[in-house]
Amino acid sequence: AANDEFVAKIPKVELHVHIEGTLSPELRWKLARRNGIGVRLSTNKESKELQSLEEVEWAYGDVISSAQLPLYADRPPSEMPPTFFEAYYSGCEVLRTKQDFFDLALDYFANRAASMNVRYCEVFFDPQSHTSRGVSWEDMMGGLSEAQQKAEAEYGIKSEWIMCFLRDVSLSSALEHYREAMSYRDMIVGFGLDSNETNHPPSLFEDVFARARRDGFRITAHCDVGQKDTHKNIHYVASTLGGGAGADRVDHGLNAADIPELTNLITQKRGIGMTICPWAYLRRMTYQEMAIKLQVLISAGTKLCISSDSPAYMDDSWILHNLLLAKQMGNLSDGDVLSMMKVSVEMSWAPREVKADL
Ligand code: ADE
Ligand code: ZN
Repeated sequence: AANDEFVAKIPKVELHVHIEGTLSPELRWKLARRNGIGVRLSTNKESKELQSLEEVEWAYGDVISSAQLPLYADRPPSEMPPTFFEAYYSGCEVLRTKQDFFDLALDYFANRAASMNVRYCEVFFDPQSHTSRGVSWEDMMGGLSEAQQKAEAEYGIKSEWIMCFLRDVSLSSALEHYREAMSYRDMIVGFGLDSNETNHPPSLFEDVFARARRDGFRITAHCDVGQKDTHKNIHYVASTLGGGAGADRVDHGLNAADIPELTNLITQKRGIGMTICPWAYLRRMTYQEMAIKLQVLISAGTKLCISSDSPAYMDDSWILHNLLLAKQMGNLSDGDVLSMMKVSVEMSWAPREVKADL
């Protein structure tokens, strides 16, 4: 449709994409071969080893959210579909060398961002999911950095890195990784908090976020949709995280729409934005439920940046698909989508001269 062409063509800003979540079946298979390791689409050791690229592609289509696990209660362990986190972290296992990190990041920049006209992006990475396999900081940061430079030189795509702490790992590990990251501080614009939120509230990581804020970094944290403590967690992130002032952004946080006071805290009181990845939420709520929440935030004037999160594991839905879904749910005109992009630029942590150019 003509509308789709408009959205396809406009220059885009993406502020919530995990580089590890862009690992396609093809690249996963290639890196596994190159590194001489097998591929299982789950961290669960009982899961089957996949024997061909076709099997890997097929398994990617099978990823479920942990909320859907009860539906599979009668399956034997070897036949269980992988949950999102099982699939995502098992994917990380093929990332070993500097070249692997380069190939991963360049695949996103060159084959996805460039083709969808993403002009600027802030990309998450999860060091703790790599150092645990013995990957060196030098290889990880070197590969990411060279891909970033090539993306800018060859495709004109500008980007920044946001380093995430895994919330299901300890605070002391987060602090240790924070210290180690300081050797690469010029490559890092801010810090985020991701992984499994159940029983891991953001307040557990207050120390490391307060330090990051003191050191001049931007901060954000995931507040996943449908978590049992989601309203409490959103409130903490927006009002307190990072030494008492609150984060510079909330990732997801869609449930802020449920409570006027929370919408107000984010929108009026703090004036911070939220990154919204609608495709991801379809596993957790109906289209109609999501459309209502999205419309509440849009009417409130909350700053939103529609993004893709971990597109390879979310039905291969990249920023374009997420924008089209949001457009439909929010009844947005082409002009509204364009205004949203301008808001995304405003929300970004790009250097002033880059921002002025977007
Ligand atoms: N890490 C990568 N993708 C994530 C998501 N959607 N939620 C939490 N942690 C993540
Ligand atoms: Zn995310």
